[in-house]
Parts: sequence; C-alpha cells; structure tokens
Amino acid sequence: MTDPLIAAAIHARLNAHAPFSKFRVGAAVEDEKGHIHTGCNIENATYGLTVCAERVAIFKAMSEGARHFKRVAVVADTETLTPPCGACRQILWEFCGDVEILLSNLAGKTESVRLGALFPRAFDASFL
Ligand code: THU
Repeated sequence: MTDPLIAAAIHARLNAHAPFSKFRVGAAVEDEKGHIHTGCNIENATYGLTVCAERVAIFKAMSEGARHFKRVAVVADTETLTPPCGACRQILWEFCGDVEILLSNLAGKTESVRLGALFPRAFDASFL
C-alpha cells in the first residue's frame, strides 16, 4: 500500500505548471497533527521565478498555521529518485530541521533519507 504522504505528493504532481521544463514534481509535508499539505512546481516564463514543489508545500502549510513537520515526500517521474534542490534544502532546514524525506517515483521506488544527510553543516538561525 502506498504511504498516504507519497500518494498526496503523486496527486499534487498532477497540478504542476511546468510548460518550460515539462518536469513535473509533487511534494507533501506532514505536520505534527498528521495533516498533509501539498505542493507542485509552478514555473514562470522568466524561469528564475519558478517555485519548486517543496517550497510551495511548505509555504502553503506555514500559511495555514502549521509549524512542526514530521515528514516530507517528493515525487517525480525519474528512475533515479529526485532529491530537493539546494534552495529547497535550505528552506526545508529552516522550517523542518533534520526531517525525514521520502523520495519516490511513479513506479513505486521509494527511499527515505534525512535532511541532515542531504544538507550537512547548514546555516541557520543558530548562527545569528
Ligand atoms: N523542481 C522541483 O519542483 N523540485 C525539485 O526537487 C527539483 C526541481 C522543479 C523546478 C522546475 O520547475 C523543474 O523541476 C525543473 O528543474
């Protein structure tokens, strides 16, 4: 059975607005109450203003008042599982800390990795 968090990311991916790259990504974050918040990548003709699925999911969750996150799922249609980009790792670290990240593809291949392993020695508010 598919993990509900991954299922939510698969579903969100269908809403991706990716006319330039055609690379659709879905993300889902689970908060401390067990609520799931989803996001998809939303591209822009300037390219640089594109927002990744992970950031859309986190910002949607934050805007709904969620603050503590237990797990994040990222889904793309790639054989090699797609990890969050560098900018998203920084944002995920800011709001989720060393959270569990589930990487998955449409074939059901899944891997669990902690953000601390993807993003060692992060800069964060502890330095300020
Ligand atoms: N993208 C994401 O949404 N998340 C990732 O983890 C990797 C990249 C998006 C950004 C852009 O719309 C497309 O994938 C190609 O880079």
